[in-house]
Amino acid sequence: MAYNHFPQGVFPTVRLRRLRQHPGIRRMVSQSSISLNQLICPIFVTHGQNICREVSTMPGCFQWSIDRLPEELDTIAQLGISSILLFGIPAEKDAVGSDSYSDNGIIQQAIRVVKKHHPELVVITDVCFCEYTDHGHCGPTYEVNNQIDVDNDATLTLLAKQAVSHAQAGADLIAPSGMMDGMVTAIRQGLDQHQFQHIPIMSYSAKFASSLYSAFRAAVDSGLSSGNRQSYQMDPTAGAQALRETALDIAEGADMIMVKPAMHYLDVVYAIKQQFPGVPLAVYSVGSEYAMYKAAAKVGAINEQACVMELMASFKRAGADIIITYYAKNIAKWLKEQ
Ligand code: PBG
Ligand code: ZN
Repeated sequence: MAYNHFPQGVFPTVRLRRLRQHPGIRRMVSQSSISLNQLICPIFVTHGQNICREVSTMPGCFQWSIDRLPEELDTIAQLGISSILLFGIPAEKDAVGSDSYSDNGIIQQAIRVVKKHHPELVVITDVCFCEYTDHGHCGPTYEVNNQIDVDNDATLTLLAKQAVSHAQAGADLIAPSGMMDGMVTAIRQGLDQHQFQHIPIMSYSAKFASSLYSAFRAAVDSGLSSGNRQSYQMDPTAGAQALRETALDIAEGADMIMVKPAMHYLDVVYAIKQQFPGVPLAVYSVGSEYAMYKAAAKVGAINEQACVMELMASFKRAGADIIITYYAKNIAKWLKEQ
């Protein structure tokens, strides 16, 4: 969007309200419509049986066990949503997060269930280790300066392994979220070496060390036992680094890029879209964004539907092509009702 328009006439010849009088004309000149094709619905898959457990921090979102996952998939497919993003909560966690690259891991099982019941859905997998490690970090750790930190290069090897394992199970799109240096290169090489040249990568290219992930960490039980993620996720005050991170991921072969979280970072979304207009750009409206809107709606502080649709319009205005949101199902219903 260009903001360099100067008025080409003045009142009373010009009345901008004329375009706002007739609802049909308002719709005719509206600029950001939300299409279900661009919405991605996250799903939490957990170990155990007969589980459909509401996430305490995210009312309306559930953890599903594998046996009941088809119910949720049916709902999503019936609503016309075409893409899902899978997160797994494994039965066993260990120091390296080995469930994440096991052929019978929670995600691998989930992918196979989706492919069997709804082969038309685009299956996106979050590729990271924090849900699978007992310490909660996004990769295997080591000690440096008396602190626990993620071992970047050891993580790369395992990331490639995890991505290949997802692709073998049937994943359509690989989404690495750990902000390791070199992660896209490592995953691209791993996929290519296993004849998955055709599988695209949607990199969480600009991911900030945000306070908005707490709701999600309760959903997938990925709290940290020690340390923090500030050595890999970006400092919220250092927005310009996002351009460098994104440029690098594109150079490494990322097919799509992302800004996460969404609502506090729309300046970054705008800047990245201007810089890389040819690369599909996703925003991830994270768990705590969802939780805040839910909480506000519950006390009557906002009209939930109006506020969420306005939020989606803000993502589009800023330049997002694709939106990952826990509101995907609600939005699909609202669009149907219109
Ligand atoms: C895994 C991952 C996280 C999210 C997406 N992938 C957690 C994190 O980075 O702490 C967050 C999603 C959300 O907050 O809704 N690295
Ligand atoms: Zn992680």
